[in-house]
Amino acid sequence: MILVTGGAGFIGANFVLDWLATRDEPVLTLDKLTYAGNLQNLAALAGDPRHVFVQGDICDRALVEGLLARHRPRALVHFAAESHVDRSIHGPEAFIRTNVEGTFTLLEAARAYWSTLSDVESAAFRFHHVSTDEVYGSLAPDAAPFTETHPCLPNSPYSASKAASDHLARAWFHTYGLPVLTSHCSNNYGPFHFPEKLIPLLIVNACAQKPLPLYGDGLQVRDWLYVGDHCAAIRRILDAGRPGETYNIGGWNEMTNLAIVEQVCALLDALAPRADGIAYATQIVHVTDRPGHDRRYAIDARKIERELGWRPAETFASGLEKTVRWYLTHADWVKNTQSGSYRDWVLKQYGEGAT
Ligand code: NAD
Ligand code: DAU
Repeated sequence: MILVTGGAGFIGANFVLDWLATRDEPVLTLDKLTYAGNLQNLAALAGDPRHVFVQGDICDRALVEGLLARHRPRALVHFAAESHVDRSIHGPEAFIRTNVEGTFTLLEAARAYWSTLSDVESAAFRFHHVSTDEVYGSLAPDAAPFTETHPCLPNSPYSASKAASDHLARAWFHTYGLPVLTSHCSNNYGPFHFPEKLIPLLIVNACAQKPLPLYGDGLQVRDWLYVGDHCAAIRRILDAGRPGETYNIGGWNEMTNLAIVEQVCALLDALAPRADGIAYATQIVHVTDRPGHDRRYAIDARKIERELGWRPAETFASGLEKTVRWYLTHADWVKNTQSGSYRDWVLKQYGEGAT
């Protein structure tokens, strides 16, 4: 079996669902169920004997050691993190705790467990550390996309905490030989994406006839990848990646935030037009920029294609349409994310008038 941390969050839940849809190998999910974790994301697995869910904190060493000893996974896929840049600006502490201390705890527990395995088992064991392209920093408009050897230049508390965890993962391979794999992915989108992040926020706000907030001039650039493609890439790296290596994962799909909002609005105009016939784009507003906002990310994903034969299957047009349709048909899921604490966040980040 494999152990997945953060499997009740956006990418982790997609990963667990896709894994069990394509393989019979059982999954043990460990998740603290913070505001971003939602057991509803895994509801399709209720009663499935191949899935075990444990609510708990990756910083709890005794818990993690107990799970490893009892379930004896052959791999650990580590998604659990505080993941929202804006929240890291308002309150970095939780990011240091989970992303840095939590990853350290997992690495140490995995190392202790790994040292008890037989030669065959220890050679096959993998610790997959899921990281982000944000650790590379911001690119000039004409700079080449990030390769795996790009310097690590994080700019936000979130990306600094992820970079710190990357360094730990690297050191545990080089010093102790723990078979660590690291991947750096660009911006994901798709089902179960918490509506504090750009694409789901736009869809949910548009449908509620609320403002569609663009930070600053809206010309910041991100590379966007459908979440199912990210999950497929991680499966491929787990199967065939070389321990100690890092792999960039991206969609070859750079876009400005303005272009994103325009496409979301156009899709909604076609799939769920406003009753008054007015275009959703009229709801776009420019708001105060994010402090230290990275201007551009772009991923060079040639290594994973060359060495492991992975390429994204989804185009942005097909992935975005799937995503918009998912949100339009999952009103209950959306409603359940709009808790009191989410409303408090929206008020803190966007001020009166946005809720
Ligand atoms: P998310 O915020 O949606 O989910 C994070 C999950 O981790 C939640 O279920 C949460 O309950 C859980 N968690 C948080 N702290 C925990 C703790 N201390 N112990 C156990 N569980 C805890 O995040 P996501 O967008 O799904 O991102 C998953 C991973 O992928 C993160 O490591 C993130 O850095 C990385 N990543 C995300 C993106 C993206 O676009 N979302 C892109 C590249 C990499
Ligand atoms: O690049 C990978 C990263 O992508 C992941 O590591 C992070 O976990 C994930 O949250 C994401 O980070 P971003 O900061 O790029 O994602 P976010 O959805 O918060 O913002 C995307 C862009 O949209 C960014 O330029 C900020 C902008 N934005 C965001 C929000 C929430 C707006 O203009 N308005 C908004 O209201």
